Amino acid sequence: MKLDRLNERFIDIFGKGSARTFVAPARVNLIGEHTDHQGGYVLPCALQMRSACVVRPRTDGLLRLAASDLPGIVEAGVSDLSGYAKIPWGAYQIGVAHIMSGRGYRVCGMDMLFDETVPHGSGLSSSAAIEVATAYAIAVLSSEQSGTAVNLPELALIAQSAENDYVGMNCGIMDQFASAMGKKDHAIFLRCADLTYRYVPANWKDQGLTLIIMNTKKPRSLIKSSYNTRRAECDRAFRALSGPAGITYLAQLSPEAFEECRDLIGDSVAVRRARHVVYENDRTVRACQLLAQGDYVSFGQLMNESHDSLRDDFEVTGPELDAIVEAARACDGVLGARMTGAGFGGCAIALVPDEICGEFEERVAAVYRKKTGYTPAFYRAEISDGVREETII
Ligand code: GLA
Repeated sequence: MKLDRLNERFIDIFGKGSARTFVAPARVNLIGEHTDHQGGYVLPCALQMRSACVVRPRTDGLLRLAASDLPGIVEAGVSDLSGYAKIPWGAYQIGVAHIMSGRGYRVCGMDMLFDETVPHGSGLSSSAAIEVATAYAIAVLSSEQSGTAVNLPELALIAQSAENDYVGMNCGIMDQFASAMGKKDHAIFLRCADLTYRYVPANWKDQGLTLIIMNTKKPRSLIKSSYNTRRAECDRAFRALSGPAGITYLAQLSPEAFEECRDLIGDSVAVRRARHVVYENDRTVRACQLLAQGDYVSFGQLMNESHDSLRDDFEVTGPELDAIVEAARACDGVLGARMTGAGFGGCAIALVPDEICGEFEERVAAVYRKKTGYTPAFYRAEISDGVREETII
């Protein structure tokens, strides 16, 4: 929904009066998959797709949430936001408010209307966009009361905590950080162990290339439990290696150091999970250098290697992501293709010369549909800024 229309909708639901609009983007990760939860490097970008929330404070301590695509209003008292983790929708928003009130933010009553242009369950992190939009809205209102500055990396950590500690998904920091800190036409090279980062120009457009996001449309029903299982498997490998290898997080190991100590893990599944993390982390460092140099041919090769490792060692791709990536790679001229996000369905990405984009989408759709029965969707990535307030005229 357009933002001016969203404002009208807010007034229809909550009544006349001024309101403010906050927008947080979805993200696409170029490379560095399943490394964030092990302290490694990631290379995400914020996207044009976004979550928006229109907000107006209330004086009675009630948090009232509406969504543009759902009926009804979810209501919670800000004095106790602890019991809403299992509600059908609204847990991300209430979780963020709960964490923020525990950390000293002034969380007042609010009317909030949410609207997303991010396809749900597609692996582009609609949940992080919702959390970051909520956290930013609360932080801006709170800072105007208290005079303290808004700290975006801190908001990313709060949003992650809402997901980990409130909703129960043990995600890393990548999605929330990208949504909070994104920069137009740049990727973020982030070291998740300590949140140091730098922006790297993502200027494939200048070389006549398009980053195409390919949505498999495969529903990702087991995402939470499978994701948490993968984390637990990595943790097993880390526990076996931390003492002998003297590391404080798994991605700290170089590939060479890993090969020397891998037998100490003594569990073949955990060895493969750890091998993915270590080699993917190394690929991400190299990919960042290639991106900075504009060497998209070599960058594309690393995208391919990343997908293969996620398929064979980390086992988070599945038939649909493998089929769409294979179909993409079979098109002449494509530089590389891989899944993006947590996996188990959702989206993949491909780096494609501009002049074949139309033909590429047609061919991939036909091959993929024949193989899986799903009709995919395609989005051409526009790299956007992070969370912000929008002025609606
Ligand atoms: C999900 C999580 C992220 C990250 C990716 C995989 O998107 O939210 O923290 O772990 O999966 O790279």
